[in-house]
Amino acid sequence: MARAKSTSMRILRSILLVSALAVGSCSDQDSGTHPAGQPITIVFKHSKLFGDPVAFDALIRRFEEHNPGIRVRAEALPSSSDEQHQFYVINLRAASSDFDVMALDVIWVAEFARAGWLRDLTQVFAPADRKAFFEGPLAAVLYQDRAYAIPWFIDAGLLYYRKDLLAKYKYEPPKTWEELTKIAAAIKQREPGLYGFVWQGKQYEGLVCNALEYMWSAGGDVLFDDRAVLNSPENRRALKFMQALVQDGGVSPKLVTTATEEPSRRIFGGGKAVFLRNWPYAWTLFEQPDSPVRGKVGITVLPHFPGYHSAATLGGWQLGVNRHSRYSKEATAFVQFMTSAEAQKALALAYGLNPSRRTLYEDTDLLAAQPHLADLRTIFDHARPRPVTPQYVRISQVLQSEFSAVVAGLKSPDDALASAQEQVEAILKQ
Ligand code: GLC
Repeated sequence: MARAKSTSMRILRSILLVSALAVGSCSDQDSGTHPAGQPITIVFKHSKLFGDPVAFDALIRRFEEHNPGIRVRAEALPSSSDEQHQFYVINLRAASSDFDVMALDVIWVAEFARAGWLRDLTQVFAPADRKAFFEGPLAAVLYQDRAYAIPWFIDAGLLYYRKDLLAKYKYEPPKTWEELTKIAAAIKQREPGLYGFVWQGKQYEGLVCNALEYMWSAGGDVLFDDRAVLNSPENRRALKFMQALVQDGGVSPKLVTTATEEPSRRIFGGGKAVFLRNWPYAWTLFEQPDSPVRGKVGITVLPHFPGYHSAATLGGWQLGVNRHSRYSKEATAFVQFMTSAEAQKALALAYGLNPSRRTLYEDTDLLAAQPHLADLRTIFDHARPRPVTPQYVRISQVLQSEFSAVVAGLKSPDDALASAQEQVEAILKQ
């Protein structure tokens, strides 16, 4: 293991050297907004990274070494997407210039671009450069044909399962949701103390990501041709299934109704569950030397309802520049550096943040370290975006509250969908 670690550090160092040289030349052209000889500091707001901070710090230091005169202060925001959104909305409405570079959830770029909060990056992210990226994140950073951010890393919902337990009881990974519940119930019965299936059921953005995966894999949806189509038998079936997972002695513990990504990841990572729905970052943590589930975790596509296809919600983060930044050229150079193939590779190796650049899925170092990446590429190609609209966050708030009431057993799927339909129709009319 020590050898593996030092090999990956060597790879990381050589990657960083190459990428830093490339960015050095780019920022030379951009310099000039700060008085000669006086260093400036750009502030980079991002969500918390899970894992050893060394690789992230090294990436930033490398940018600084090759861009003398620019310092970068990285500041982590709370890990939930909703709290980060709130932070940005409050500060950007007040035209704050306290931060320069922002990590943006895939669902916000249209909203922020429409509000005039983001620097237009079309010039540095030209159509020719865009071909290297997955389509989902690319569509998310474009607003009225202009680019307002550059995709940083991509997420898609995955099913994690305990390979050892499925093999012990002679099960194949489930293809349908029903198979998942059967396998989970059977193994749970024979392994007392284990939970069957953990996922993210708290009232927040992650719950919408989870719910959409059931709805889409039952043939349902939120919008069709810009109209709300929530109140459908397909969505009812999906929500009924989710409710039954938690209520009525289902295979998910009640604690999922308050769980976000990390608590559910820790339960499964502690060896206490058969199945987990989560984003790809979790795999790297399961494979740490001290992890109780190291070598025992399989990854596959999420199940579906019979007759329909699996659906993974597209997630991921993009880097944009605050339109009120005093150092927008330097901030743009940093965005280009952080989204370069080399930086994305370093982040993938260290934290399992999956590149938004397709070409990296053929990279031999990455494939050697994370063999499942080859399969993830297909999942990312087909991941489904949440509605790409400046109204998304408002729509999501309605869904979060209605779906949360369903999984908590406080509302029937029929009532929740009828009410969500009405509220989303009202939002769309505004
Ligand atoms: C992950 C995804 C993001 C999503 C969030 C929900 O961070 O990348 O797109 O909104 O989870 O919790």
